Amino acid sequence: EKSGYDHFMLKEIHEQPKAIIDTYRGRMLADEGIIRLSGIDDNINRFLNAERIIIVACGTSWHAGLVGEYLIEDKARIPVEVEYASEFRYRNPIITSKDVVIAISQSGETADTLAAIKLAKAKGAFVFGICNVVGSSIARETHAGAYTHAGPEIGVASTKAFTTQITLLTLIALKLASKKGEISKPQLREFMQEMQLIPKKIEALLKIEDKVKEIAAVYKNATNCLYLGRGFNFPVALEGALKLKEISYIHAEGYPAAEMKHGPIALIDENMPIFVIATSKGHYEKVVSNIQEIKSRAGKIIAIVTEGDTQVREIADHVIEIPETAEALTPLLTTIPFQLLSYHIAVMLNKNVDQPRNLAKSVTVE
Ligand code: M6R
Repeated sequence: EKSGYDHFMLKEIHEQPKAIIDTYRGRMLADEGIIRLSGIDDNINRFLNAERIIIVACGTSWHAGLVGEYLIEDKARIPVEVEYASEFRYRNPIITSKDVVIAISQSGETADTLAAIKLAKAKGAFVFGICNVVGSSIARETHAGAYTHAGPEIGVASTKAFTTQITLLTLIALKLASKKGEISKPQLREFMQEMQLIPKKIEALLKIEDKVKEIAAVYKNATNCLYLGRGFNFPVALEGALKLKEISYIHAEGYPAAEMKHGPIALIDENMPIFVIATSKGHYEKVVSNIQEIKSRAGKIIAIVTEGDTQVREIADHVIEIPETAEALTPLLTTIPFQLLSYHIAVMLNKNVDQPRNLAKSVTVE
């Protein structure tokens, strides 16, 4: 069942190129510049007339939602808010029939997300679901939706669900952008052609596993780690930290890189590994100066950079290269080394990777 892999998590990490293709297959006609998403097409006016989009989710799906916020605002210019389902449902939120709610859930069974959907529906909002499990409660409870088609995810630590949710959110952002006239046909075509290269680029990245293992061996005994990223890669920093916490029980925090100086910088010393996403687009120079600040405080830097980078290589303790791509697509690549790193650290520490303590695959309690 694990197809020769030691754990479901590793198998699912390696399934990502295929899972992403399965998510966009038949939906993204790159050469024609067309996106087909019937759940959106059938309700296009609800989306185009929306005053805002509210994304509700928990855990990793909430991180995907944050990437979705950056994508939809950047491409389609519709205001987006991202809420933890548990907070949203209990804080008497302002919701009207002009709102579109997007609920994201791998399992489709998360109790807080389901309750948030019911509340939004009761207040007249249109609710769109992004689920992986076909026929799940959330898929049934929403007005319309789209499946990620990632295939079963067994490992408690979510991997391919995350990258396929981002893939689908990218399609939604592009679809709305093109319907609103925010993106031209040639731009759309070019972006989608770039997106079609992502699975191959992930395959290439999966080949650097030995290098990630070496880094894992150096930092496996750390007790605290910091993950930093900006823009589209800020949610990836949060997700990287969650992955490490969940399966290796090492305390980790994700932060927007520029927030470091507002507090977390006090933690930095020679025992603190800091994982930084410093890809070439997206405020590169700013992130480089964050890295310099960390180095001058003796922190250890493990940086994710774009192929061919020289500047960060000179100052970082370790670099992991990702292939070049459009800035908005980088989360699909930068996520991969963090998944592998958490996996290998957990294995080296003899933790139960697929079934970490205290966690369940779907959280059906409130
Ligand atoms: O099934 P869902 O996407 O609704 O689950 C949400 C979270 O419980 C889930 O993402 C959790 O954070 C994962 N264990 C993260 O790896």
